[in-house]
Amino acid sequence: MSIDFSDNRSFETQQPLVATSLLREDEGEQSLRPKSLGEYIGQQKAKDNLSIFIQAAKMRGEPLDHVLLHGPPGLGKTTLSCIIANEMDVNIRITSGPAIEKPGDLAALLTNLQENDILFVDEIHRLNRQVEEILYPAMEDYAIDIIVGKGPSANSIRLDLPKFTLIGATTRSGQLSAPLRDRFGVTLRLELYTSEELAHIVTRSANILNVPIEEAGALEIAQRSRGTPRIANRMLRRVRDFAQVTAGGVVTQAVADRALRALEIDSLGLDQIDRRMLMSIIENYRGGPVGLDTLAATINEESITLEDVYEPYLMQLGFLTRTPRGRCVTPKAYQHLGLSVPHGINHQPDLEQLSF
Ligand code: ADE
Repeated sequence: MSIDFSDNRSFETQQPLVATSLLREDEGEQSLRPKSLGEYIGQQKAKDNLSIFIQAAKMRGEPLDHVLLHGPPGLGKTTLSCIIANEMDVNIRITSGPAIEKPGDLAALLTNLQENDILFVDEIHRLNRQVEEILYPAMEDYAIDIIVGKGPSANSIRLDLPKFTLIGATTRSGQLSAPLRDRFGVTLRLELYTSEELAHIVTRSANILNVPIEEAGALEIAQRSRGTPRIANRMLRRVRDFAQVTAGGVVTQAVADRALRALEIDSLGLDQIDRRMLMSIIENYRGGPVGLDTLAATINEESITLEDVYEPYLMQLGFLTRTPRGRCVTPKAYQHLGLSVPHGINHQPDLEQLSF
């Protein structure tokens, strides 16, 4: 398995706890990854369904149907794919949409698979059109059509492939073309984790890392990890540093609180960028609505980062709503930021979400 760190440097310096993609230290996260569905905490619905599909495919001696995993970053799409491979007792090849530049790159990957193997394509919405077209017959008929020669003498040859399972992962399923989306037999949406599930994950990780942790310490980290195991595990490492240097090594609630305050993560897990987003909408756009691109330009961040990384959690908290006319801050967010709610503001999440 190869992990490409080439695009992460800015995240490492600016906001490592909330970064979208893998940081260098996440390499260590591999040791924390559960290896079976039984060890995997949370996502109960997805696990229950997967368990049935895996057992059925094994009973028939067939590969699992193609699986599309979607949801915000850091929720364990790669981990779940490795678990599926483990449970199916097959190999997994891991790659990503942007890494497959030409049809030939994909053909090489597919022809090197063994019967029933899994090909995992992260960020599958970023595949280019020519590559995507190779995937259609590969997924449907386990075959690819290769053009040999040029001009009038060019010939198309059909090459049979071993039966395989494609697992595609995406943070933006809406960007997948309909023909590609329709070729997945199983679609699973991963949800943000509850604090209880995250506390369980943090405790499990602390045990693996040999970090003494109190229940309240695990819960404090969990409540500030914005529903995301990758962030929870990063926070655990940072809190462990504080515990080691300032508190005799044990992660208590007080140490976790002190460490996360020092990292400017507030009681609900909001960081500087979340606060800048909310404050900018409040101060510059009277609470909204404001378009995403305008907001991103105002606070000097990428629209895609705000949309994929920051908004899902702010919306889950009920602090932000998306309306057809733009983003709005809710009274709940004003209260959390210690501001009085202006008269007449009524960006209630449940009402607004219905109209989106
Ligand atoms: N580490 C990261 N994600 C996990 C999960 N869902 N369950 C257990 N450990 C994890």
